Amino acid sequence: MGQDRSADIHHERSGIVFRPGLEGVPVTQSAICDIDGLQGRLAYRGYPLEEMAAHSTFLETTYLLIWGELPSPQELRDFEAEVQMHRRVSFRVRDMMKCFPATGHPMDALQSSAASLGLFYSRRAIDDPQYVYDAVVRLIAKIPTMVAAFQLIRKGQDPIQPRDDLAYSANFLYMLTEREPDPLAARIFDRCLILHAEHSLNASTFSARVTASTLTDPYAVVASAVGTLAGPLHGGANEDVLAMLEEIGHPDRAAAFLEEAMATKRKVMGFGHREYRVKDPRAVILQSLAEEMFARFGKDEMYDVARAVEHEAATRLGPKGIYPNVDFYSGLVYRKLGIPRDLFTPVFAISRVAGWLAHWREQLGANRIFRPSQIYTGAKARSWIHGEDRAPATGA
Ligand code: ACO
Repeated sequence: MGQDRSADIHHERSGIVFRPGLEGVPVTQSAICDIDGLQGRLAYRGYPLEEMAAHSTFLETTYLLIWGELPSPQELRDFEAEVQMHRRVSFRVRDMMKCFPATGHPMDALQSSAASLGLFYSRRAIDDPQYVYDAVVRLIAKIPTMVAAFQLIRKGQDPIQPRDDLAYSANFLYMLTEREPDPLAARIFDRCLILHAEHSLNASTFSARVTASTLTDPYAVVASAVGTLAGPLHGGANEDVLAMLEEIGHPDRAAAFLEEAMATKRKVMGFGHREYRVKDPRAVILQSLAEEMFARFGKDEMYDVARAVEHEAATRLGPKGIYPNVDFYSGLVYRKLGIPRDLFTPVFAISRVAGWLAHWREQLGANRIFRPSQIYTGAKARSWIHGEDRAPATGA
């Protein structure tokens, strides 16, 4: 797939073929998530995404992804209760977060605070199933608390404690906005988390697997994945989509914007995907969730701009297989939920931690450390030059 997108580079001396970005190169076997990029289908452990979003909850989806089967009602209740019990974070983590600059990006705050959990829990027991279960519970439970805590801390407030009477998603929105959310809003948010929970070997999951392959602790695995997710070509794109829609400002300006973007080779944010040649199935569901939100809580005027961009892009980018991806409509839903724009990617991380942990477990089940090769393109063997004999370095 995508032969036209990146040229293979053949290395004459070794006969090795180098595919930039590893496009189409399998780096592992995995039973977690199946993507059909031509039909626009996605399934978690064999269950179609549409059914997951309609019937499951984020915690149930997490259980399925990590342990491979849907939980029995009792297993689910136990898992939910464990997660609920571990939502609080140590005062030491909260105090550390108070020292972060309020102007820092919440993804950097999340990466640091996720990594700090490794200071609290032993790193030497990754072959102990109880340690694995506890680590999963802690990360799933505490990541939302840390995202919400940084939001209040940077406003100069103390973080508020989780509420035990609220389910996972409702509790996060409560900790973030200090208001108990409407049940429909909480359910829509939970469905957003389901949609973002796993997507095979994307950059952050690959990063998680590489880190996992060294047998380090799961907190380091998640911290490295958070750092990778932050980039604008990956999870960070959801922030840029809203900025782009605001820049366009009106549906009538969508065509001219796209013309200029194509002429200047500017990327249209929220469009394109290495795996899909059709509209991302997550974008299809997110668009319908956006419409559900707007029907209940009032429309976001940028939705008409988004639809105009999608319409105009169909003839311009569609022939290249470039359509809306998961990030295109998610920001509109999140904004309606009262989530600040620079928290869109941390919210993505709250969800994707489920997929990263599923890949952590799978990697440990058949581990071999990742150590790819390279094609050396640097200088041939050279003799040492003493300082006084050197010509000025250029471009250094
Ligand atoms: N807008 C305009 N043109 C695009 C876009 C886009 N969003 N995406 C790809 N193209 C074009 C490229 O310009 C290139 O054209 P060319 O062959 O004429 O030079 C061609 O399509 C191939 O693009 P690549 O960037 O090489 O494709 P790749 O598979 O490496 O990249 C990516 C995929 C990074 C997602 C890309 O589509 C992109 O940058 N999109 C915008 C950022 C974005 O929305 N990222 C979120 C992705 S979803 C996620 O990570 C959660």
